[in-house]
Amino acid sequence: MRRAIYPGSFDPVTNGHLDVIERARKLFDEVIVAVAHNDEKQPLFSLKERLSLLRETAGKIDDVRIADFNGLLVEFAKAEKAGAVIRGLRAVSDFEFEFQMALMNRKLDALVETIFLMPKEEYTYLSSRIVKEIARLGGDVSGFVPACVANALSRRFK
Ligand code: PNS
Repeated sequence: MRRAIYPGSFDPVTNGHLDVIERARKLFDEVIVAVAHNDEKQPLFSLKERLSLLRETAGKIDDVRIADFNGLLVEFAKAEKAGAVIRGLRAVSDFEFEFQMALMNRKLDALVETIFLMPKEEYTYLSSRIVKEIARLGGDVSGFVPACVANALSRRFK
């Protein structure tokens, strides 16, 4: 069983995330989308809300499991018997942080390999942060996120 973890904040899940999940599914038998508790960040959506939006979207894809984790990612990967961590890479600006994280995770556990997947070109400029800003300023985000997420954003910024 080839299993991968796709970790992140998913605050909220976007079409770019879903594209990466679909790509990862072609490479692995099971993909666990894992929401970090991440107390340092101040998320717009609670952990429960982020998990629920993921279950309504990514959770509908075959062999995709939604989970959450506290503590080190490599420990979670080990506990789930996952040999790979998936991260989306959009532009050069992502690279520095992603490179640092991948090599640190390798240092922490040499058995966990990080695999970078590039989302569809049209999602290169997409991020949860930008989607939240557009929604906050009253813009239309329906082309960037699933309908349930667009609804959740408009309720949040009503
Ligand atoms: O979507 P994000 O916010 O870019 O995801 C970052 C995330 C959650 C993948 C990263 O912060 C993480 O792995 N956190 C878990 C704690 C951990 O293992 N930190 C050491 C990473 S080198």
